[in-house]
Amino acid sequence: VQSIRVRLRAREQSYEIKIGAGLLSVSGQEARVCLGANGRRIAVISNAQVFELYGPPLIKSLRAADFKVTHWLMGEGERHKSLATLQEALRFLGESGLERGDCVLALGGGVVGDLAGFAAAVYLRGIAFIQAPTTLLAQIDASVGGKTAVNTTRGKNLVGAFHQPRLVLIDTDSLATLPRRELTAGWCEAVKQGATGSRKLFDRTLGFLRTYQTGLSDDTFGATELADLIAAQCQFKASIVARDEREDLNRADHRSRRILNLGHTTGHALEAITHYRRFRHGEAVGYGMLVAGEISKDLGMLAPSELELLRDGVALCGPLPPAGDLKVDEIMQALTADKKAVGGIVKWVLLERIGRARIVDGREIGSKRLRAALRNGLKRLPKPQVRISR
Ligand SMILES: NC(=O)c1ccc[n+]([C@@H]2O[C@H](COP(=O)([O-])OP(=O)(O)OC[C@H]3O[C@@H](n4cnc5c(N)ncnc54)[C@H](O)[C@@H]3O)[C@@H](O)[C@H]2O)c1
Repeated sequence: VQSIRVRLRAREQSYEIKIGAGLLSVSGQEARVCLGANGRRIAVISNAQVFELYGPPLIKSLRAADFKVTHWLMGEGERHKSLATLQEALRFLGESGLERGDCVLALGGGVVGDLAGFAAAVYLRGIAFIQAPTTLLAQIDASVGGKTAVNTTRGKNLVGAFHQPRLVLIDTDSLATLPRRELTAGWCEAVKQGATGSRKLFDRTLGFLRTYQTGLSDDTFGATELADLIAAQCQFKASIVARDEREDLNRADHRSRRILNLGHTTGHALEAITHYRRFRHGEAVGYGMLVAGEISKDLGMLAPSELELLRDGVALCGPLPPAGDLKVDEIMQALTADKKAVGGIVKWVLLERIGRARIVDGREIGSKRLRAALRNGLKRLPKPQVRISR
């Protein structure tokens, strides 16, 4: 088991991320060490699909560590990350008799984690929260950093809170049941994290994806290498978060948390105009990175060979749904509605090279350049050379 300490400014908020195979079945011991003798109750929030697979060993282990455990299953999918579900979750926490010293545990992907985390943030003005992420995206990204939220009718993640977890338990075995597209989406975020801030991490991620291609079967696909890579990805996210916990709007430097939004401007627009039906979020971010790469190249910031490398990286993540048929005008319109816009100006995360991002004011880009970047970035990618057979 690997352990990463996320160090935050308020020392008491610092926490551990544990990564390893089979961690869910020892979650009780880990939770006990983290919560101490005072924690009596743990309320588990999950969904049916995940709970059926991973709930029983988790509950068994928590009970063996002397916790009183209740569980509640929310609906499946992004549309359930809502205020209505939050209300149900809060009712569940109340009915479970949770007190200030008790804890909420999220078992599932980013949807479950964001909702359960927000419930923990507001219940009794904030109680302890443990993340047990079961998707690749949640393991390398969503579970680290303390952002929690629900969606409203106006858009995604519009109501939420910063609430740091007390512990993150990453059981790498849970990825074995993850549907293929969810893996692709997670890999896109992994490529993104490397591209924004660490050439070493980027190379390592591509190296893993390429090795995978060279015949390692599902059973032996390098469980240790996978755990190591997930640990490196978490370490990277944690290092960015530690320096900029609340995504300071006044910061635009290459280590600010905002660089993690590489690909998100276009990604959100693609999701919105296809009514969140065509792309998984990570897949849309995959295209978004390429559009950002095209703009960067066109502005003379990024060498063409670096953009090619980024394309290789995205292609290696797995096949993406087509985007070349989408209307550039519609995308342009959706782009201006971006939530991260400041004073109506979209801030783009662009690349100076793989591993170094820069935030650029949308006015410096111009609509002609943007249109060309959208056309080039959304073209069909070369057939991925890797096949992850699931
Ligand atoms: N808080 C943050 O910092 C942060 C960062 C990135 C994304 N997010 C949020 O995360 C959400 C997306 O998360 P996601 O990609 O994990 O999607 P998700 O939570 O919807 O999970 C994807 C699907 O996989 C299923 N699943 C989960 N684990 C499984 C497993 N081990 N085996 C089989 N099936 C499994 C889920 O039931 C679901 O159908 C979005 O709402 C996004 O806003 C939050």
